[in-house]
Amino acid sequence: VDYHATDTAPKPYTCGACHTTGWQTTADNGGVNQDGLEGILGTWEETGITCEQCHTPGVNHVVSQSAADINIDESKELCGSCHFRDVNHNIEASGGFIRHHEQFDELIASPHQERNCIDCHEAHIGVRYGNAAAGGIVATCESCHSNITSNAHIVPVDCENCHMGRATKSARAVHTFEGDVRTHLFRIKTDAVGKDDMFFVDPTSGKTFTRGYITLDIACYSCHTDPITMEGGGGSQRTLAQLSARATGIHN
Ligand code: HEC
Ligand code: HEC
Ligand code: HEC
Ligand code: HEC
Ligand code: HEC
Ligand code: HEC
Ligand code: HEC
Repeated sequence: VDYHATDTAPKPYTCGACHTTGWQTTADNGGVNQDGLEGILGTWEETGITCEQCHTPGVNHVVSQSAADINIDESKELCGSCHFRDVNHNIEASGGFIRHHEQFDELIASPHQERNCIDCHEAHIGVRYGNAAAGGIVATCESCHSNITSNAHIVPVDCENCHMGRATKSARAVHTFEGDVRTHLFRIKTDAVGKDDMFFVDPTSGKTFTRGYITLDIACYSCHTDPITMEGGGGSQRTLAQLSARATGIHN
């Protein structure tokens, strides 16, 4: 059976390309299914993303045990080989949220398009479940943007809470304005417009894509509350117009 087999568009199990190490499709391996399971359209060497998926098979390294024998690729394209969705790197969206695993596509549409993922990330440590503080993030926003000393907001708020709002949905949204994965678009539009403004329908493909910024409802309603829908983080009610007035020139 396919993943989401009862949907109008069921997904075949080709997930191994990004979720396993040493994946070969059935077209490449002569029609073999992992563990003889017909739905799995290929085979893997190891489950999950392990050393050799990023460092290529380490035949020499195993013999020498020297770090000099490990192939190291520092480019964002390495990470982007899995953290993307559309081959043209348009940022796909659906249901009012950015779709997940598009960090590469977002980054190259952002003011950080010249950055590599590992400028900020330690390649071997995750950031979910509190791991950012445990070394998953090697450069904080403040370390590069030392001129932004204060957000002049009445309470101190971490940069990520506004600039990396959860505009993306992987499994489940918290509410209308908060998904479950942080965005890498970073730029915040300060006009008094809601998140519909982030998206447009491409007439050729009929798909919904994302422009290169987040709107104030995504940036601010993870804490504040929208007085119209009464959705948000439960903090003080602010209209988009009030947020816009406060957000414009917020760091000046
Ligand atoms: C998601 C991709 C990825 C995986 C998986 C991965 N690495 Fe790395 N590794 C990198 C990148 C990228 C660098 C370069 C880091 C840098 O320059 O800051 C690196 C650097 C290294 C280095 C050089 C020393 C250092 O820390 O800078 C060693 C040694 C290493 N990796 C070993 C491993 C081993 C062993 C594993 C499996 C347990 C592994 N890596 C898994 C991406 C990966
Ligand atoms: C193009 C590469 C790619 C393909 C193909 C892919 N995934 Fe993923 N997936 C990712 C990446 C990268 C992440 C983590 C980043 C994110 O969620 O934004 C992820 C995250 C997930 C998560 C959430 C994991 C967590 O810890 O929250 C699940 C579940 C998942 N994928 C299932 C699947 C299934 C099932 C398929 C096949 C039907 C699939 N994926 C195909 C790249 C891919
Ligand atoms: C071969 C595919 C692949 C490559 C290459 C890859 N990733 Fe991932 N990455 C994944 C998948 C799949 C997940 C989701 C796994 C899960 O959550 O169970 C993920 C999850 C993550 C997460 C969130 C997980 C957490 O616990 O915080 C971060 C951060 C991440 N990757 C960063 C990177 C960086 C940085 C690079 C490049 C050095 C990279 N990835 C290269 C497939 C890949
Ligand atoms: C490794 C250094 C580095 C880190 C870390 C970093 N940035 Fe940047 N950032 C830059 C550079 C370089 C630019 C582009 C130069 C510019 O336009 O100012 C930039 C641009 C920006 C811009 C657009 C600036 C403008 O004038 O429009 C925003 C917003 C931004 N960064 C926010 C953040 C946030 C939020 C974080 C933390 C999640 C962060 N940055 C982390 C280096 C960094
Ligand atoms: C300018 C710095 C910066 C760059 C560049 C960057 N990231 Fe991140 N990333 C972060 C920060 C900060 C977090 C959030 C950490 C936290 O939640 O505390 C994060 C979170 C993530 C997450 C987890 C999101 C979630 O909410 O589950 C993934 C996956 C990820 N990054 C992948 C990537 C990939 C892949 C690239 C390159 C294409 C990349 N990042 C480039 C700073 C950066
Ligand atoms: C991490 C939570 C959080 C986020 C995100 C957040 N705020 Fe706040 N904000 C607060 C708290 C807490 C207060 C103080 C209590 C109150 O007034 O609700 C506050 C107060 C305010 C106030 C009244 C006091 C003042 O400083 O003028 C305004 C206006 C405001 N926020 C605007 C914004 C805007 C605009 C954004 C998005 C760009 C935003 N906030 C994002 C938590 C947050
Ligand atoms: C309360 C939400 C909020 C927080 C917290 C926040 N920012 Fe911003 N930031 C904004 C908004 C909104 C803008 C857009 C301002 C404009 O366009 O007038 C912005 C703009 C920027 C810019 C573009 C240049 C500028 O001065 O306008 C940079 C760089 C930036 N922020 C970095 C940071 C860093 C670094 C942090 C953490 C120290 C941070 N921000 C914390 C809301 C926030």
